[in-house]
Amino acid sequence: MTQPSDQGPALDNLHTESRTFPPSAEFAAQANATSALYDDASADREAFWAAQADRLDWDTKWGQVLDWSDAPFAKWFVGGKLNVAYNCVDRHVESGHGDQVAIHWVGEPGDKRTITYNDLKREVSKAANALVSLGLETGDRVAIYMPMVPEAIFSILAVARLGATHSVVFAGFSAEALRTRIDDASAKIVITTDGQYRRGKPVSLKAAVDEAVAQTPSVTNVLVVRRTESEVDWVEGRDVWWHDVVDGQSEEHAPEAFDSEHPLFILYTSGTTGKPKGILHTAGGYLTQTAYTHHNVFDLKPDTDVYWCTADIGWVTGHSYIVYGPLANRVTQVVYEGTPNTPHEGRHWEIIQEYGVSIYYTAPTLIRTFMKWGDDIPAKYDLSSLRVLGSVGEPINPEAWIWYREHIGAGKAPIVDTWWQTETGAIMISPLPGVISTKPGSAQRPLPGIGAKVVDEQGVEVAHGGGGYLVLDQPWPSMLRGIWGDEQRFRDTYWSRFEKEGFYFAGDGAKYDADGDIWLLGRVDDVMNVSGHRISTTEVESALVSHPTVAEAAVVGASDPTTGQGIVAFVILRGGAGDSASGAEAIKALREHVAKEIGPIAKPRQIMVVPELPKTRSGKIMRRLLKDVAENRQVGDVTTLADSSVMDLISSGLKTTT
Ligand code: WTA
Repeated sequence: MTQPSDQGPALDNLHTESRTFPPSAEFAAQANATSALYDDASADREAFWAAQADRLDWDTKWGQVLDWSDAPFAKWFVGGKLNVAYNCVDRHVESGHGDQVAIHWVGEPGDKRTITYNDLKREVSKAANALVSLGLETGDRVAIYMPMVPEAIFSILAVARLGATHSVVFAGFSAEALRTRIDDASAKIVITTDGQYRRGKPVSLKAAVDEAVAQTPSVTNVLVVRRTESEVDWVEGRDVWWHDVVDGQSEEHAPEAFDSEHPLFILYTSGTTGKPKGILHTAGGYLTQTAYTHHNVFDLKPDTDVYWCTADIGWVTGHSYIVYGPLANRVTQVVYEGTPNTPHEGRHWEIIQEYGVSIYYTAPTLIRTFMKWGDDIPAKYDLSSLRVLGSVGEPINPEAWIWYREHIGAGKAPIVDTWWQTETGAIMISPLPGVISTKPGSAQRPLPGIGAKVVDEQGVEVAHGGGGYLVLDQPWPSMLRGIWGDEQRFRDTYWSRFEKEGFYFAGDGAKYDADGDIWLLGRVDDVMNVSGHRISTTEVESALVSHPTVAEAAVVGASDPTTGQGIVAFVILRGGAGDSASGAEAIKALREHVAKEIGPIAKPRQIMVVPELPKTRSGKIMRRLLKDVAENRQVGDVTTLADSSVMDLISSGLKTTT
């Protein structure tokens, strides 16, 4: 079960922030959201969500809004039937918007594609027909391991259209990480590309699939999109080119309606153990809440806005706020394949200027990186089209928030700091632009229809000014429906800590300020947040100890001015630390090993070779003390250590090994 670690929420870091930015009268007058939403939701929550579900086209209307009788397994819009891809594509064509651009796609090398809703319908239908020709059936799982090319979006929608279940695996993950995810879900088909562009250079991607699939008996076919013209190995009978099997297919495909609770996707995320959790989302509730939040939090006007979410489809933000919510709302959006500094550090601003992007949604780590690159870079571009700015993935520090507002939002675009998780499926806590006065650094309040609270150890709500744990005290439509294949872990991880109260435990520390606004303070469990990516300390520790030179390892997330947290590892090498020259070699090899086991995003920022690790009498590693070392602080209370001299040994050992 999830135990808050000995680190505890960072309550010593309570911010005070008195600046608030009320919405302009002009913005408020045209905003999608009004304060009536809060009133409606509190008057009758289920009726409120029923009204939100009416944003979608249902083949069969639901009978009951919520069935919570089998809590914590929810059923939303019970008995309803719909096709998710039809809702994201076909219905916009049928309502006369086939010529509207759905996606302005920008490749990293500068190539471009414009995809209208007519195009999207054709491409998704062809891809669906191709998957059927490969033997895919409703309920099967498909792993998607692709860079940000349009075919990734076509694939996701084609799988959804068939009532199969996708599991998108971030293309920066290693072959080993892909293998475990394919295996866990017994995926039948893997969709990938020959290679992907990374900072201007093509790098192979299919090779990792070959390595993974060599050990995954469930996979019958690998469908490969040509992107970089990289050399690929080919397994006849298993591997098929996209242009061979998709291009010639019929452009017609009749969507079938599936149950509201039909599995839509699995997305793996790090937990407190080494094994990633396959978070399961289902069709009706998920699409309802992503569409509702996208409409109100980003104030989307489908006829005039150009929206851009900079996430990768490998993460939940890409699922909910590139694919499902936006397309359900008939968005026109930019999808960019590459990195923000390829070929230059003004790439994002150049794209915003070129396409007249009006809504921009990104992560604090990138905002801080932009700050570092310099104010003069965005200043060279015309960003006047921007009218709403969003932030997600980690707490945004007030300084970065103010910089974002001033330098990107011309001192007037409202900023929505959106708190949510892979598990919540959609945004849960955020100001509504045009309604709420925003406050730098605070995600502020639960959206209409959502119940969130800050509680103490006993589950009692804390007073304004107090801190504790963030919980969700009401079921919500896009809530996870479980962990793939592991019911017990689902109950233990999220529902056992406040079992008596029936609260969902989010794993985040939080506080209320004097106004009752919520401030997120970071994870309270052993999950790190590096550039908005969740990585578990245990996962990195297992990767390290799987290397033959490592006897023991402990990993902590140390605060980092750009990435939020950085991974710092303490390792005990077999046969002692060695001299400093071989130590440097060993450290390099270990960093590479972690990249190979998990992916480059999990490479430790720093590895320290130590003679011992600080442990309690029961053998639990005291990460809090290691965090003190990693953050160059005076080491805290050592009285619960089995051997209190260990910290001296570590500190003196460090002098010789770093
Ligand atoms: C953190 C990403 C503060 C939080 C959508 C959460 C945030 C974890 C915010 C989920 C925010 C996300 N302010 N912290 N606005 N948004 N987080 O599953 O710790 O990749 O538990 O989902 O990111 O990360 P995940």
